[in-house]
Parts: sequence; C-alpha cells; structure tokens
Amino acid sequence: MSALTQRLRATLDSRAARQMLRALDPAPPASTTLVDFSSNDYISFGQSPKLRRKLADEVGAPTTPLYGPPSSRLLDGNSPLHASLEHRLAAFFHGPSALLFNSGFDANAGLWACLPGPDDWIVYDELVHASIHDGMRASRVPKERRRAFKHNSLQVLESTLQSIIEQDDGVRVGEKSVWIGVETLYSMDGDLAPLREMVELVERVLLAGNGHLIVDEAHSTGLYGPSGRGLTCALGLASRVTARVHTFGKAMACSGAVVLASPLIRDYLINYARPLIYSTAMTYMSALAIRKSLEMLEEGESEPPAAHVHSLASLLISRLSSILPPSSSISLPPHLASLARSSSKSTMLPLTSSILPLLTPSPRPLATFLRERGFLVRPITYPTVPRGEERVRVCLHAGNTEEEVEGLCEGVRAWVEREQTESRAKL
Ligand SMILES: Cc1ncc(COP(=O)(O)O)c(C=O)c1O
Repeated sequence: MSALTQRLRATLDSRAARQMLRALDPAPPASTTLVDFSSNDYISFGQSPKLRRKLADEVGAPTTPLYGPPSSRLLDGNSPLHASLEHRLAAFFHGPSALLFNSGFDANAGLWACLPGPDDWIVYDELVHASIHDGMRASRVPKERRRAFKHNSLQVLESTLQSIIEQDDGVRVGEKSVWIGVETLYSMDGDLAPLREMVELVERVLLAGNGHLIVDEAHSTGLYGPSGRGLTCALGLASRVTARVHTFGKAMACSGAVVLASPLIRDYLINYARPLIYSTAMTYMSALAIRKSLEMLEEGESEPPAAHVHSLASLLISRLSSILPPSSSISLPPHLASLARSSSKSTMLPLTSSILPLLTPSPRPLATFLRERGFLVRPITYPTVPRGEERVRVCLHAGNTEEEVEGLCEGVRAWVEREQTESRAKL
C-alpha cells in the first residue's frame, strides 16, 4: 500500500470509528417511496406541474439557447439572458443591483473573501454556513480581527462591537469597516435571526455608518415576506443591509444564487470575486429554470404553499410538545418549546419555519426507526452541529399532508414508548 493510500485510508477509518464518516446515500429503490421530511424543496416547486410546464414551453421554443455558455461571464458568457435575469431579480427582491453566481457557496465564498479590507473587522454569528467561513478565512482580515458571537444573541453582538470600537480608533471614527455576517433562517436549528434588532443595533453602535450587514437568505427565500421575497423584505430592511444572498437551490428548486448589493459592490465583485471570474458562467438551462421559478414567485404562487408549510409546522410543534414527556431523551429546542407555549400568533410574520430539529443523543437510531416507518428524516451529528447537540432534522414541505405529519408524530411517540419500556426493564 502506498503512503498516500495508507494516509487516506487511516483518516477515513478514524472518521468511521468516531461515527463521523460522510457517505453518499444510495438512491432508494424506485419501489420505496418515503415521505420527504428531508429535502429543501420547502414549497414543493420541484413537484409543481405549473413550473414544469413553464420550463418545458420555454425550452421547446426553437430560439431558446440551451447549451452553454462555454465561457466565463467575463469572457463570452455574459448573455442577454443572464443580464435580464439579474434585472428581474433586483426588481423582485428590492435590491439596487444583482449579480448571479453558480451556487450559494460560490456567492458567499466569493464576496466574503474580497469585500472586507485588510484593516477591517469581521463579526459573525457562530452558526453561519461553511461557505461564509471559507470566504472569511480567505479574506485579507487576519484571524485576530474575525470574531464569532453567540448565536442570535443581540447582547453578545453589541458587546463584541463595543469592544472593537474600544480597541480600534479607526473603527470608532469610521475609517475602517465592520462586516457582520448572519443568516435569516438557520438551517440546523430552524430559528430566525432577530434581523430588525440587529440592523438597529449595528446602526446605533457603529455611528459612522461603517457597520455592514451581509445577510444570507438561503433558507428563508420563498417562505417569508411578500411573494417569498425573504425576511429582509418582510421587515422592510432591504435598504439597510449592505448585501443579501438568495440561493435558488432550496425553495426555488433550481441551483445558483444572486447577490443583491449596490452597483459599486457589484462592480467590485466582478473584478475580485474569484468563483465568478475563474469559472464558467451559469448555464443557460439554469438561468432559464431560475427565470421560470422567479416567475412563479412574481405571480404569487409561493404564498399558498408557504402558508401550508407554516401551518404544518404549528401542527408538528403542538403535537410533539404534547407527546414528548419531560423525561424523554428527545426534546424540542428552546425556541420551539416557547412557540408551543405561546398562544399569540404574529399576523405580520410567521414565527414558524420549515425546519424543526428533534434534539436527541441517538440521532442515527431515531432516524432509522422513523425511516422504517416510511419517513425520510436525517440525523445531524458532530461536526455539523456541536457535540451534545445532535439531532434529527425534520424539513417540512408544501407537498406534505397533515396525515403525514400526524404519522411522523406517531413514529416519534412509538420511539419514546419503546425507550421508556426499555428503561423500565433495566430497573
Ligand atoms: C445558509 C446557506 N448558505 C449557503 C448555502 C450554499 O448554497 P448552495 O447550495 O447554493 O451552494 C447553503 C446550502 O446549502 C446554506 O444552507
């Protein structure tokens, strides 16, 4: 065995021994139809006959470009299709301008790597996505000036910003910028950022206007705001954040992403965002698919499915909170437990989300148990979440029915009952 083979084998074996080995799930046999409580097709656009027809009609037209462009956007890849899609995205999401990327990963990695200057600071929620981490690490801001703050904590965000101002006069007088990275809906916890309060806090503490929020709307697109415009638009904050990233791979059932920011930032990204410059432009097929999915949002087609998802989430939270005894090893995270206790419903903004984690020390056995009952859910383990915070993640979709949610709860109840029987038998 070569030294290389030995090293790769040993590393993977060690991961496997620690139950951390990642592997591609074999596609389920065609006859197995599990209820999808796992994918990110939140508003079930991926199953929509209307969207399918729209795309098929467009693709069938003899003049529609299909293959290509075989070039970077900066060479021969800047087609009228890309440019017009960006105009429509900017108009829809109330952004000053828009720039397409091949994925949300590219968008985050690209913009975080180049926007902050070498003397700036970066402050980020501790749970932000890996692509934001990769971008921040590749940036010119050294590690000592990159600070994580406790997830969704306004108090810790404020104390972090205050301590930066105290340490660095350049920040206090507005010569240097502080870039703040957050998501709107967190994918492992399913909780919303207190975005309005964050925007107000950043404006109040960084008085020179040198606090720049960059907001990742990957999971909130399609589910919040008028016609699914996302949380920033729902709260009327579009003009008060520096940049937003909306991805198309989740509720919009496509792939790719858009950065909404000022024309100046757009020009800067075109010059310095490496995943954009050194990669083939988004394919025509992707751009067409996004255009059709955007058309669905523009026509209000996301609103009934999004409302259904929020109503399924309320049902799931209320059922689970009555099923799970305090002694159970499964629990709901605090933000869901408090939603279950509160009877007030926000008419402005749904507080529920499509993502609901069941905290459990046995995520794999529980996920297998539920799969055997016909429900596709995923175990989420370290290092994706910290040790001790393992979970089974339930993702709801507009295509799910109340009966399916009741069935899932029945599965959870059966697991809890089995657990209790086993622990009584041990006494
Ligand atoms: C919060 C967040 N941002 C960015 C991404 C990356 O998006 P994409 O899948 O388009 O690369 C993801 C996705 O998986 C995500 O969850």
